[in-house]
Amino acid sequence: MLEGRNILLIIGAGIAAYKSLELIRRLRERGVGVRCAMTDGATHFITPLSVAAISEHKVYQDLFSLTDESEMGHIRLSRESDLIVVAPATADLMARMAAGMADDLAATVLLATDKRVLLAPTMNVMMWNHAATQANVALLRQRGIVTVGPGSGDLACGEVGSGRMAEPPEIIAAIEYMLAPRPLEGASALVTSGPTYEPIDPVRFIGNRSSGKQGHAIAAALARAGARTTLVAGPTHEPDPAGVALVRIETANEMLAAVERLLPVDIAVCAAAVADWRVAAPANNKLKKGRNGAPTLSLVENPDILATIGRAGARRPRLVVGFAAETENVVANARAKLTKKGCDWVLANDVSPAQGTFGGDRNTIHLVHADGVEDWPTLTKAEVAARLVERVGRHLGRA
Ligand code: C5P
Repeated sequence: MLEGRNILLIIGAGIAAYKSLELIRRLRERGVGVRCAMTDGATHFITPLSVAAISEHKVYQDLFSLTDESEMGHIRLSRESDLIVVAPATADLMARMAAGMADDLAATVLLATDKRVLLAPTMNVMMWNHAATQANVALLRQRGIVTVGPGSGDLACGEVGSGRMAEPPEIIAAIEYMLAPRPLEGASALVTSGPTYEPIDPVRFIGNRSSGKQGHAIAAALARAGARTTLVAGPTHEPDPAGVALVRIETANEMLAAVERLLPVDIAVCAAAVADWRVAAPANNKLKKGRNGAPTLSLVENPDILATIGRAGARRPRLVVGFAAETENVVANARAKLTKKGCDWVLANDVSPAQGTFGGDRNTIHLVHADGVEDWPTLTKAEVAARLVERVGRHLGRA
């Protein structure tokens, strides 16, 4: 899928610059045209000559070069590629990007571009964890810039931790992700995922075994298809999906408040395992064992978030999708949910323990809608997400 595409690779001043040579080679093998710009610092790590030889193009270094500007000015350089990749993306270069500076060719091109930008950050672990770097990265992500890595492991400076540049195959996977067709471009989506935790007292809660894997995979797939996606997630161990705005919540009431703030959207997918009940009056202090025996918990019903979205009137999304995790009468129960919760599609799945759905990687889905049932084969949760998003695209007339 990368054949014939053009990438502008900006090489920053990191020891990992040597991996950029491998990245260029692998991209060239896939038929990608690679033009390279290097910061002054980068030339201390690898030579422009090797970059030019491997990329088979002249290397751009100087903002004020008369010959470069007359051949391919910095504005054209930023426009004539399908994607800009910055690898290594150093703390300094990201800080200059975040501040909107244009003090060298790399920063100017990044400020002048109308193309999407992928960063492969790398630096010492303390530099990566520094509040300034984290704030810069958060700001850049907010502006739609995508990051790949850094990974954990031995760093060139001898310390261990997060800061190592992503390997070329991971960077290429991120490039493929960013250059994939985007049928949902311009649409907005919200996804709920994970469990909710309902407090009993400050240290105890009622929760469930939902891993968040399916909801997170759906949010990632919607974003990959170009939808502006917000994920409202309960406590999970899942990594943050790329290109998705994340709102973390704990309780069902917090999830509802977050969802209500996000409406209207075009697409809503409720994959969260919301606790049906919460403790009516959680204790302010930790409950103690005592002479009075075990406490009695009085429960009240939680709001139904899917039903609230399904009946949101003018603010109702064009497509509302719910899940039905059932242990018996899977399709019949899902049908009932369609009307009860006012949703367009219910993805029904069997979560009886023998199926290993909760926390597992596979799911057997029956897509139930007003016109019938579509039985899907057993798929990984990522495949379910991709199939759902493809189906959403067709439904909205975008695929
Ligand atoms: O009624 P049940 O919990 O089986 O419904 C499952 C569907 O409803 C899921 O899509 C789930 O995310 C959603 N739901 C919700 N709020 C609740 C309960 C369920 O959004 N309080």
